[in-house]
Amino acid sequence: MPPQPTDTLGRPLHDLRISVTDRCNFRCRYCMPAEEFGPDHAFLPRSEILSFEEITRFSRIATTLGVRKLRLTGGEPLLRRGLEDLVAMLAAIDGIEDLALTTNGVLLAHHAEALALAGLSRVTVSLDALDPEVFARMNGVGAKVDRVLAGISTARTFGLPVKINTVVQRGVNEQEILPLVAWARGQEVTLRFIEFMDVGETNHWDRSQVVTAEEILGHIRERFPLRPVKPSHAGETARRWRHADSAAEIGVIASVSQPFCRDCSRLRLSADGKLYTCLFTAAGHDLRGLLRSGGDDRMLRATLRGIWSSRTDRYSELRGEGRHPKAEMSYLGG
Ligand code: GTP
Ligand code: 5AD
Ligand code: SF4
Ligand code: SF4
Repeated sequence: MPPQPTDTLGRPLHDLRISVTDRCNFRCRYCMPAEEFGPDHAFLPRSEILSFEEITRFSRIATTLGVRKLRLTGGEPLLRRGLEDLVAMLAAIDGIEDLALTTNGVLLAHHAEALALAGLSRVTVSLDALDPEVFARMNGVGAKVDRVLAGISTARTFGLPVKINTVVQRGVNEQEILPLVAWARGQEVTLRFIEFMDVGETNHWDRSQVVTAEEILGHIRERFPLRPVKPSHAGETARRWRHADSAAEIGVIASVSQPFCRDCSRLRLSADGKLYTCLFTAAGHDLRGLLRSGGDDRMLRATLRGIWSSRTDRYSELRGEGRHPKAEMSYLGG
C-alpha cells in the first residue's frame, strides 16, 4: 500500500486545520450572528472537547499520511486555556513544516511572546476594517480595532510573521478595501481579501452580498499597480500579487467566483473530534470515539487513510447543487 493516500480526485492530504474551541469573543455577522449565538446558545461541554494529548496524537498520525502543515483555529483559539502548551506539543512533531494560528487578534498582544517561544511559525489575523465604527459593527461586540492592531504589532515584535484576512461583504465594508491595502503596504504585511461564503446555516448568505475577487482587484488596481506572484504550491487558497514598489503581498481568496477545490488538500478536525473532509460537509467522521475507546495508532491511521481515500468533496465547484445542512464555520474551523 502506498504510504501516503490520495483521494478519489487524486488529491493528497497536506493540511490539517484544528479547531480548539467553538467559542468566540466576537459575533461577526458573517460567521456567528449574535441573534443565533446568544446567551442561551449551547456550546460544546468540556468533556466533549479533545484534550491537547488527543489532538497531538492524531496530528502525529496524520503526518505519517502526508500532513505537513497545521493550523489552529476556532472559534477563537486564544480562548482555549493553555494554548501555548498545545503549540509546543505540536511543534515537536517530526514532519510538521508549518504551524500557524488564525485569530481575531484581540487577545494576541497578551499571548504573542509565549506563542512564539512555544514554536508557533506564524499568525493569521482577521481584520475586516480599519475604521473603528465599521470594525465594531462587524465584530458584533463593539471590540476596538486598536487592540487588534496592537496584537499584530506585538506578534511581529516577537518575530511572528503576520498575514491579514479580510472578508468583504457588499454594503458593509467595501469602502475599507483601499485603506486596508494602503495600511498593509506601509506595514509590509500580507493582506488577503476573502469572498463572503455560504458557509454554515446562520449567516443569511446571499450571492448579491459577494464582492468578487475581480471587483476587489479592480478597486485596488485603480490606486496601486500590482504584479502577479506565482503560486508557491498546488492547492493554495489565494491568488497572489505584489505591489510594484513594496515587498507587501496582496491575495484574493475567490472561493465563490473561482473555486479552488481541484487541489484542495485540507482536512479539518472539529473541537469535539470530528473529521471533516470539506468546509461544507454536513457531518463529520467521529474520531473522538476511536481515540477514547482504546483504538491503537495503526487502527487510527487505517481509519484516516480510509476516510481520505474515499473523499469526493468539491463543494465550491458544485455550489447550489443538492442542498444539505452545513456545519458552522465557528465550530469546524475557519
Ligand atoms: P496560508 O497557509 O497562510 O496560505 O493559509 P490558508 O489560506 O491555507 O488558510 P487561511 O486560514 O488563511 O484561509 C483563509 C480563508 O480562506 C479561510 O478563513 C476561509 O474563509 C477560506 N478557506 C480556507 N480554506 C478553504 C477551503 O478549503 N475551502 C474554502 N471554500 N475556503 C477556504
Ligand atoms: N465567508 C468567508 N470567510 C469566513 N470566515 C468565517 N465566516 C466566513 C464567511 N461566511 C473566515 C474568515 C475569518 C476566519 C476566522 O473565518 O476568514 O477571518
Ligand atoms: Fe468572527 Fe472568527 Fe469569531 Fe467567527 S470565529 S465570529 S469570524 S472572530
Ligand atoms: Fe476544499 Fe471543500 Fe473548500 Fe472545495 S469547498 S476547496 S473541497 S474545503
